Amino acid sequence: MKLLHYPVMNREVIDVLGDPGDGYFVDCTLGMGGHSFFVLKRFERSRVLGVDVDEESLVKARENLSEYGDRVTIVRCDYMKVFDVVDFGKYHVSGMLIDPGISMVQLKDPQRGFSHNIDSPLDMRKDRGFGISAADVVNTMSEKELIGIFRDFGEVKLADKLAKCIIERRLFGPIDTTLKLKEVVEKVFGKRVPKGKVHPAAQVFQALRIYVNDELGGIEDFLLKAASILEKGAKLIFISYHSVEDRLVKRTFKGLANDGRAKLIKPFPMFPSEEEVRENPPSKSAKLRVVTLQ
Ligand SMILES: C[S@@+](CC[C@H](N)C(=O)[O-])C[C@H]1O[C@@H](n2cnc3c(N)ncnc32)[C@H](O)[C@@H]1O
Repeated sequence: MKLLHYPVMNREVIDVLGDPGDGYFVDCTLGMGGHSFFVLKRFERSRVLGVDVDEESLVKARENLSEYGDRVTIVRCDYMKVFDVVDFGKYHVSGMLIDPGISMVQLKDPQRGFSHNIDSPLDMRKDRGFGISAADVVNTMSEKELIGIFRDFGEVKLADKLAKCIIERRLFGPIDTTLKLKEVVEKVFGKRVPKGKVHPAAQVFQALRIYVNDELGGIEDFLLKAASILEKGAKLIFISYHSVEDRLVKRTFKGLANDGRAKLIKPFPMFPSEEEVRENPPSKSAKLRVVTLQ
């Protein structure tokens, strides 16, 4: 397997999952199959049900997992709809992982518009056959709507100033590429990035990506549904990459624990090791939370 995308907190996922026997590991965000590859390799009888919305990632996943033959089943859909698409009565599920966001391959793809460092059309849709693009958002939404998106999904400081600047800039033509948007961001925040800080465009791009793909919309309902459908003892594992998402997962897992429907394996999130962050710096923001269903 070509490790074009390094699976984040892979060791921790394997540890908390434990040996599923011949049960299924449901990888809700299969990407190119990184986590699933290591689960299949480590646990010889385990099977994977892999889900992703992005066909280009699934092409790679099929290739990367081909050596595991019929131990792997792949379904293309939004993971939030997986309970409508797959009959879980047929699967003995030992663990389910949600590792959302985007893979490094998606981030670096010059056609997708996820990175402020690569000049590309301002798209950001994970499923390119569906929905509105980031360019549609930036070029058509009102100042008030843009402020809401930047604040709620990116915790962007100066969200009002940025939205105003976008409205003014678009009078001179559409902001339809990543670098055009980055220029506007730099006009508001300056070009210099203080040491140890991320470029302000990172938060702005994150906010737009979350909005365009409605990443937070159904998380709580999805986790509650998973808790009601999956068998007792199954592990529900979530890796978040930003605080807005992590707060949502934390609250939902706590609620399930308080209702006696799940047990928190640890009261606090797990973080990637220093070694992992050194080898794969983007893993730095990851937080893993896990519950065992009761
Ligand atoms: C960080 S990558 C996952 C990488 C994977 N765990 C691995 O190790 O190769 C995130 C993946 O989740 C997918 N994804 C994000 N949101 C999704 C959703 N709502 N439904 C299905 N797939 C989604 C993305 O297309 C992307 O391939």
